[in-house]
Amino acid sequence: MSKITTARLLTMKQEQQKIAMITAYDASFATLFEQAGAHALLIGDSLGMVLQGESSTLKVTVEDMAYHTRCVANGCEKALIVADLPFMSYSNPEQACANAATLMRAGAHMVKMEGGDWLAGTITQLTRQGIPVCGHLGLTPQSVHVFGGFKLQGRAAEQAAQIKHDAQALEAAGAQLLVLECVPSGLAKDISRMLNIPVIGIGAGPDTDGQVLVMQDALGLTSGYVPKFTKNFLAEHGQVQAAIAAYVTDVAEGRFPGPEHSFN
Ligand code: KIV
Repeated sequence: MSKITTARLLTMKQEQQKIAMITAYDASFATLFEQAGAHALLIGDSLGMVLQGESSTLKVTVEDMAYHTRCVANGCEKALIVADLPFMSYSNPEQACANAATLMRAGAHMVKMEGGDWLAGTITQLTRQGIPVCGHLGLTPQSVHVFGGFKLQGRAAEQAAQIKHDAQALEAAGAQLLVLECVPSGLAKDISRMLNIPVIGIGAGPDTDGQVLVMQDALGLTSGYVPKFTKNFLAEHGQVQAAIAAYVTDVAEGRFPGPEHSFN
């Protein structure tokens, strides 16, 4: 695999090659995932739940994110490294720039932020200063208490229209990638076609430009509730690298996600 850049992801969309992203939080898994062919590694603030055992992502700090970003960056050479800006770390452009700089210095190539058109000014400011941005719409876990739970977003026509509007606003502001989480497949398909930038889905059906999974879900390292949109690739493949290679291939060949992992 050659080095993955934002330009390469754009070309992949244009050439209709699917992008496979997975979360990673340390060097060992980052190395295995990159060797398995993952194009992008996300240091997600999901680490608050899957590593720290919290019930939401809200307690994750910029320091937590910088620590795990540095660990991942030390384990990989070619994958694009995307790091989440955690809850309330990007409330205004100045705060966002300072915290994004911390993550970029830790080894990120791009930062991800949850939210709609209100982030436009911040995104423009970040990109002008050399920091690529990935947007995140749909079920944005930092707003779990506004949503009243981890729920599908965008089923009602008005909500779907708002998400489409936000997606366009983020692209116009300079975002170079967009994650769409837990939205109906049809809405994700429309947005993926409407935008020039790549759209990465999770619980967003098969018609986005790529997929992302939380590594614990892809490896079956979960207890209790297992979200509908995930798949345990380790169960069939026995070894971590083989499991993630199967995930990458299944995404590339349109076998994952299937209808059983998607919402209408
Ligand atoms: O924090 C995270 O892992 C994420 C993914 C679920 C997209 O944002």
